[in-house]
Amino acid sequence: MLSPKLPTLKLNPDELHLWFVFPNEIQDVELLSAYEKLMTPEEQAQRQRFHFAKHQHQYLVTRALIRTTLSRYTEIEPGHWRFSKNAYGRPEIIASEGMPSLRFNLSHTDGLVICGIVLKQDVGVDVENIERHGATVDIADRFFSPQEVKDLYAIDEKERRTHFFDYWTLKESYIKARGMGLSLPLEQFTFHISENEPLRISFDPKLQDEPNKWQFWLLKPTQHHKVAISLCQEMKIKYQLTVNKVIPLIGEQPFFCPILKQS
Ligand SMILES: CC(C)(COP(=O)(O)OP(=O)(O)OC[C@H]1O[C@@H](n2cnc3c(N)ncnc32)[C@H](O)[C@@H]1OP(=O)(O)O)[C@@H](O)C(=O)NCCC(=O)NCCS
Repeated sequence: MLSPKLPTLKLNPDELHLWFVFPNEIQDVELLSAYEKLMTPEEQAQRQRFHFAKHQHQYLVTRALIRTTLSRYTEIEPGHWRFSKNAYGRPEIIASEGMPSLRFNLSHTDGLVICGIVLKQDVGVDVENIERHGATVDIADRFFSPQEVKDLYAIDEKERRTHFFDYWTLKESYIKARGMGLSLPLEQFTFHISENEPLRISFDPKLQDEPNKWQFWLLKPTQHHKVAISLCQEMKIKYQLTVNKVIPLIGEQPFFCPILKQS
């Protein structure tokens, strides 16, 4: 049932490819066993550490997604990729000689795993299930910038929670692109999300970053999920985003992902 070798893909310097997997759709035992064989012993041990079967499944599908997707751009076999982590836990490819430059970022939530791939820029992706428990708007009071809190509370209460996730995913994608996790103070940067204007960021001078270095997207792939992407641009390059749904080792499936806003 596995596809024979899937066609090799090309990634241009001005392109960002975003890959989606819906883990609940993948239940075939033979396929899952093929995914297991792609993992290193360390990854297999890590998978066993998850208490709940659904998290083990998500972990397995995530490993299959990143390994098989990277291999679509090169001659390297899915099981041969090796990864290191920076001091904040961000995974990167360990490059060996002759390997083309590729960078990625992963995010997972209940029902959806995503992976953004670029040739070399810093990229951060975040997906959240907006039905999730425990994420309430008052998190904004503690962690968002004063301007974001003001803008959020100006929104009608009925719609506030869904907009809260716009800010949440964008902020998370930015800190993931910077690779420094929550060591970056969340209140020191502000996303400006308004109906008639492109997405925009501004920074507290303490953060030492420049708004015009960044490109952002906010997507709504399903009724339950919001996705945000932050990409640090090369000078003057405007990146093109392509979104694909895939079943690892099987191939792409038709999918349309609405873009809610972009910069
Ligand atoms: C770890 C963190 C980078 C992302 O956590 P998260 O949102 O819970 O998880 P996501 O599913 O989006 O991302 C996890 C993936 O990001 C990658 N990642 C881990 N550390 C990273 C880092 N420092 N930078 C970029 N990517 C990182 C990994 O691939 C990881 O998946 P893996 O462990 O399966 O390989 C960090 O931002 C965090 O702890 N966030 C907590 C959530 C929060 O409070 N956010 C504030 C809301 S504004």
